Amino acid sequence: MQNFVFHNPTKVIFGKGTIPTIGKEIAKSNVGKVLLLAGGGSIKNNGVYQQVVDSLRANKIEWIEHWGVRANPVLSHANEGIRIIKEKGLEGILAVGGGSVIDEGKSIAAGVFLDNLWDAFERKVNITKALPIFTVLTISATCSEMDPYAVLTNEEENKKWNIGSPVLYPKVSVVDPSVQFTLPWHQTVYGAIDALSHIMEFYFQSKGEEPTTSLDETLILNIFRSVDTLQKDPKNYDARATLAWSAILALNGFSAAGLYGGDWACHTIEHGISALHPEVAHGAGLAVVFPAWIKYIHPLNEPTFLRWAKNIFNKNNVESAVVALKEKYKSWGAPVSLRDLNITKDEISKIAEIIYKATEIRNIGEIKNLDYNDIIEILKIAY
Ligand code: NZQ
Ligand code: ZN
Repeated sequence: MQNFVFHNPTKVIFGKGTIPTIGKEIAKSNVGKVLLLAGGGSIKNNGVYQQVVDSLRANKIEWIEHWGVRANPVLSHANEGIRIIKEKGLEGILAVGGGSVIDEGKSIAAGVFLDNLWDAFERKVNITKALPIFTVLTISATCSEMDPYAVLTNEEENKKWNIGSPVLYPKVSVVDPSVQFTLPWHQTVYGAIDALSHIMEFYFQSKGEEPTTSLDETLILNIFRSVDTLQKDPKNYDARATLAWSAILALNGFSAAGLYGGDWACHTIEHGISALHPEVAHGAGLAVVFPAWIKYIHPLNEPTFLRWAKNIFNKNNVESAVVALKEKYKSWGAPVSLRDLNITKDEISKIAEIIYKATEIRNIGEIKNLDYNDIIEILKIAY
């Protein structure tokens, strides 16, 4: 097992009926005026917004609202948030929504202290300061509610890149899984596939170190079972709660302890796809990319891939397990090929170029540091 530091400072308040705690938590942090950041309006339809503003009012927290965070959030909207905060003298961020809203909230929280937010994504400046971030989560997927990362798209440059800094851990995140009863089925599925992918990014790069890889297998199986249950019974609270907590454990440090930091090529590849096609949900892109990447890369770390094949799908070879993974995703209604995403063969080289831009700041993959041709090959398998 590799040495590691486990330090996750986010306070998570988890369970049914927890949203009314948010105002008090903000007040306890001596924050009096927040930017309430939200997406396209789902929180107004499912009662989350009302619970949040009632709690803010009860605790004498002032707020200004900034709506319209897009799924796959964009730089221009974050810059607008930074402008509002500076103009109104706000002291913190309250992100109410999914990973997109929280990620934009984190970007704004850091951007307030930078001359140019995008410089941080380009690794030209370090993030050392951020406004305090509070979140009310409405879709379980990214773990942005309990991690130090944010992903944003620079729409002018077709770059969907990330930042990470210890100052970006939310101070408090409220997670009430029952508010996810209103999720469209495909969003539940994409969220689950994102969480599964986070676990697999760490797992496949490992050499089977215990106990984390065994715990990761259990998490994967828990997520499979939860989604299978929700497919029949979308309002099953225990399944929602299991999925919500598993998605948190997938990227809050737990699933990675003692491993090697993860491979992350599939994430970089997916971010290239949704940079060009913002209508592609992150989880949908991962459902397409991951099986193709496993097919291409498994001989380079065969014992770990075989362990996964055996312990997750009871298969004796990786190819059969990849077929089983795709069948599982298909049974949930997820896309499993670029074709399913309505991406044409002609676009493969353009997408590969966008993905390859990430080499300006990082390797693409650790099991193998992928070059342009590797990316083309993986995209062809994914087609
Ligand atoms: O716009 P709203 O109204 O909020 O609707 C959202 C959105 O359309 C809807 N939704 C959310 N909760 C709902 C709901 N609809 C009904 N009832 C509810 N309770 O669901 C849609 C998707 O929301 P979004 O926030 O985009 O989903 P997700 O949480 O999957 O976030 C995806 C973004 O996070 C990034 C992805 O790349 C993508 O940009 N990631 C962030 C990571 C991180 N911060 O650590 C890591 C991930 O790997 C990922 O890259
Ligand atoms: Zn992800």
